[in-house]
Amino acid sequence: MQLPGIGVSVKTITLSPVTAVTGEITVPGDKSISHRSIMLGSIANGTTVVRGFLRGEDNMSTMKAFRAMGVKIDDDGATIAIHGGGLHGLSEPTDVLDCGNSGTTIRLITGLLAGQSFFTVVTGDQYLRKRPMKRVVEPLSRMGARITGRNKGSLAPLAIDGGGLHAIGYESPVSSAQIKSSIMLAGLYADGETSVREPSLSRDHSERMFRLFGASLDTFNNGVTIRGGVELTGQEITVPGDISSATFFMVAALITPGSELLIKNVGINPTRTGALDILRAMGGKIELQNEREESGEPVADLYVCSSQLKGISISGEVVPRAIDEFPAICIAAACAEGVTTIADAKELRVKETDRIAAMASNLRILGVTVEEHDDGMTISGVEQLSGGTIDSCGDHRIAMSFSVASLVAQAPLVINDVDCVATSFPTFYPLLQQVSRN
Ligand code: S3P
Repeated sequence: MQLPGIGVSVKTITLSPVTAVTGEITVPGDKSISHRSIMLGSIANGTTVVRGFLRGEDNMSTMKAFRAMGVKIDDDGATIAIHGGGLHGLSEPTDVLDCGNSGTTIRLITGLLAGQSFFTVVTGDQYLRKRPMKRVVEPLSRMGARITGRNKGSLAPLAIDGGGLHAIGYESPVSSAQIKSSIMLAGLYADGETSVREPSLSRDHSERMFRLFGASLDTFNNGVTIRGGVELTGQEITVPGDISSATFFMVAALITPGSELLIKNVGINPTRTGALDILRAMGGKIELQNEREESGEPVADLYVCSSQLKGISISGEVVPRAIDEFPAICIAAACAEGVTTIADAKELRVKETDRIAAMASNLRILGVTVEEHDDGMTISGVEQLSGGTIDSCGDHRIAMSFSVASLVAQAPLVINDVDCVATSFPTFYPLLQQVSRN
């Protein structure tokens, strides 16, 4: 198959079926943890050294934003060194902060900026400017932040006139680590104790990393309380491989007959292992080996073998724990025996694209029967996917999911607009090529 290399700009890719997926790979660092390491490192006292940092476009947007606020960040290619100046060490940027495609950058940084005594404007690319921001603007405004934006403060660009925050107790209507973390960052600057509770627990990387940096916080059932005004101390952080990136390769090995793959050094934080639970419940053979802990996060190697998958029902608390993995799970469902239903997943409609609509329309092109629901979908597995042309909708995870589907399709898949893969997984195509057997 013809695959692009790292840093090569390719709009369209044609991928042909393979006979097996085998070998040993290491996926790049976790995107969520990489973002948080820059953010907390920038407002801590002293130097934070980060190993395994993900150099995807999203994380580079975060790094650029903090450099624009005067933080010295060195990158020698192996490690990142962030020279933090304490809670009040940031300075007013001279220009708009462009968060690119990154929802995590814009939502978390907005919380942090709400606590600064200077003015900022944050924006992003054409996709990010369509995504809902009211979910952070509303609670931050309740804390006393003055934030305005397009469409009554619900869309970027957002203008933030920060400072003078007070603590709140917030019941989030959605389970979202971005909302929770945005409020936690603002809470560092608020008078008193700020709490956030969510319907079910979303990824808790912020809670773990805040603690590592010396923040004063308590966690309770689906919630967290943080005390304002406590200074943080720079740390050494080793970022584990991203389970969201590993999931594409898990699904690749599960659906391709004769496959056997070892994915090394993957973060297995229980708030992120929903896909592991779902794929196993579908009959996927996935073994955890060499379980250990690094920088407050559990890590393991994943050994995956091809398996006959079966359809299942997915809903409830597992959904936020697998939220980014649904595009890949949909491919597994399309290759499974029987019907898979996904419910309680309305959040998929406001990701980098509407992932329910994008997966449904593209799966239909490959001959799969899909019923779309407001909060999910029903997918009937087929014996074999057909070939066709896929539109990624500018969404990295849609592009990678269908790249995985191509491994077992009857005929080549043409996938349009695959440049977006660089936002989270710049080495995806070289790795896919490495494990593919023709
Ligand atoms: C993220 C949280 C999730 C996830 C995103 C990364 C984070 O978003 O989809 O890719 O790093 O906090 P929500 O919190 O909005 O569900």
